[in-house]
Amino acid sequence: MSDQYNIAVIPGDGTGPEVVAEAVKAVKAISKKCNIGFNFKEYGLGGDLYLKEGTLLPDHLLEELRTTDAILLGAIGHPGVKPGILEKEILLNLRFKLDLYINLRPVILFEGVDTPLKDKGPKDIDFVVVRENTEGVYAGGGGFLKKGTPDEVAVQESINTRKGVERCIRYAFEACRKRNRKKLLTLCAKTNVLVYESDLWERVFNEVHKEYPDINTNYMHVDATCMWMIKNPEQFDVIVTGNMFGDIITDVGAIIQGGLGIAAGGNINPEGAAMFEPIGGSAPKYAGQNIINPMAAICSAQMMLDHLGEQQAAAILLDAIKKVVKNDIKGLDAGNMGHGTKEVGDLVAGYI
Ligand code: IPM
Ligand code: MN
Repeated sequence: MSDQYNIAVIPGDGTGPEVVAEAVKAVKAISKKCNIGFNFKEYGLGGDLYLKEGTLLPDHLLEELRTTDAILLGAIGHPGVKPGILEKEILLNLRFKLDLYINLRPVILFEGVDTPLKDKGPKDIDFVVVRENTEGVYAGGGGFLKKGTPDEVAVQESINTRKGVERCIRYAFEACRKRNRKKLLTLCAKTNVLVYESDLWERVFNEVHKEYPDINTNYMHVDATCMWMIKNPEQFDVIVTGNMFGDIITDVGAIIQGGLGIAAGGNINPEGAAMFEPIGGSAPKYAGQNIINPMAAICSAQMMLDHLGEQQAAAILLDAIKKVVKNDIKGLDAGNMGHGTKEVGDLVAGYI
């Protein structure tokens, strides 16, 4: 074996275990094909464990996860648990405590996939969103005053540090250079209203740009970004943005690339840990029926291979994904693929 990687697998809730199993299947096929070693270790975190034992993300597990080469996550979110608890204590805590400060979300329309955008095809929808992943309103600053009274005040603060903004923007310039396509980096913010945070983002963006004279830049307000992603997605190459705006625009991105059945993302600390996940939720109503599309999870495993530096393996898996999407599966939504969850995983493994 040329390499040996320790991969933590967190199947999580709902359809998470089903889709993650297919991602692991794909990586195992790659392992054989490319002679790369992977040790998988499963962690039973999620809603069921929380309901049974009250456990969310214990410190000793967090430290263990920190030392792995990568984490593959299925989904977090359980109908029996009040919204917000699992998301904050598990998903966001993993992002924050492992300092996974980049959320990398490719928006790529594969051949054979339907987009709701009229007259747009794979050559038009091919860009990457670099979302800051540890700050902004997600940092949880703020509080209530006189909660529950008619005089109630709710304050939700957006925290943006110079260091946090700069490292994200620098990563985006690097990603744009590495992608080597249009060499255009777009800053998405809201300078006309958020006169403090967007001002910081814009200043840092312009400063860091001086180190990347080979990259062109432009600026777009977040509302306009949503509009242009639908009207003229072909203009984009790499978009860099804060946490909240990144969350919102990547849902637009997911739907134009074919939906949550295929949209994947990586939570990355370029100097440390990384976690890869399908960006859709746990979809509990589809759980246990072998009908959920595992492609987004498989795509997240593909991103993981790329992140690990296994470019050849990543290219082989990408090729297999494209073939299955183009030749074999009918639709990307749960129940309309023309195949079951496991069968889609088998098809991918078959092409590998
Ligand atoms: C995402 C999700 C999460 C987010 C939720 C589940 C907390 O929507 O990964 O995009 O807002 O970041
Ligand atoms: Mn989201």
